Amino acid sequence: MSENNALNVPVHVGIIMDGNGRWAKKRLLPRKMGHKEGAKTFRTITRACKKLGIKYVTYYAFSTENWARPQDEVEAIMDLFEKYLDEVKDFAEENIRLRFIGDRSKLKPSLQQKMADVEKASENFDAMDCFLAINYGGRDEIKHSVQEIAKMVKKGEISPEEIDEDLITRNLYTMEAPPVDLIIRPSGELRLSNFLIWQSAYAEYYFTDILWPDFKPADLEKAVKTYSDRNRRFGGV
Ligand code: FPP
Repeated sequence: MSENNALNVPVHVGIIMDGNGRWAKKRLLPRKMGHKEGAKTFRTITRACKKLGIKYVTYYAFSTENWARPQDEVEAIMDLFEKYLDEVKDFAEENIRLRFIGDRSKLKPSLQQKMADVEKASENFDAMDCFLAINYGGRDEIKHSVQEIAKMVKKGEISPEEIDEDLITRNLYTMEAPPVDLIIRPSGELRLSNFLIWQSAYAEYYFTDILWPDFKPADLEKAVKTYSDRNRRFGGV
């Protein structure tokens, strides 16, 4: 984008990758083909985020509620994650740090291992931070943070009065990441669906009817431009 310098680029963007099933249905393809195409878009858009100067991007890939989908679809999505992690060279080339958020204890041990390996391999990459939410739920994340803090209180490391918003934030899966500035949800749905509910308390929202596999870098630029033109007041005047 030529007018990049004048843009107020969001520091942290959250993206809900929605519409893969409908994309496939429109083409009379099985739903898993939509997810496969969605995974390609994930790679393209991650690169585009870095190019725009976004510092953190968090993607909603699989929610704590998505287990309710047909077993073959869940397996296809899990296979996509594993396959992707086997060939995740593009992040190294791009100097992008990749981490996962969510409750990974319910995932296949082989997938958990690959996630840990990729996190380790990319821990010193510093061009951009990318979080991929797998078996993630915002309420589950807050519950997890509260449990961690309760353990500290029980051990006598802190008193209940010392619990503040900052401590709760630091015990979320996103840890040191700053609050979310912009949430992008394609595919025409107008809801947050339990995604980053704590982190996006003051986020701006960008909705579009475009289905995720059709979402292009130009659509990302449009979302960032819309964000940049908004007046954020954080409760002030
Ligand atoms: C929501 O669309 C999408 C998902 C539940 C899965 C998202 C997963 C991917 C894009 C694969 C990501 C892979 C990597 C490697 C990051 P939907 O199925 O609910 O679409 P619909 O609302 O049209 O049915």
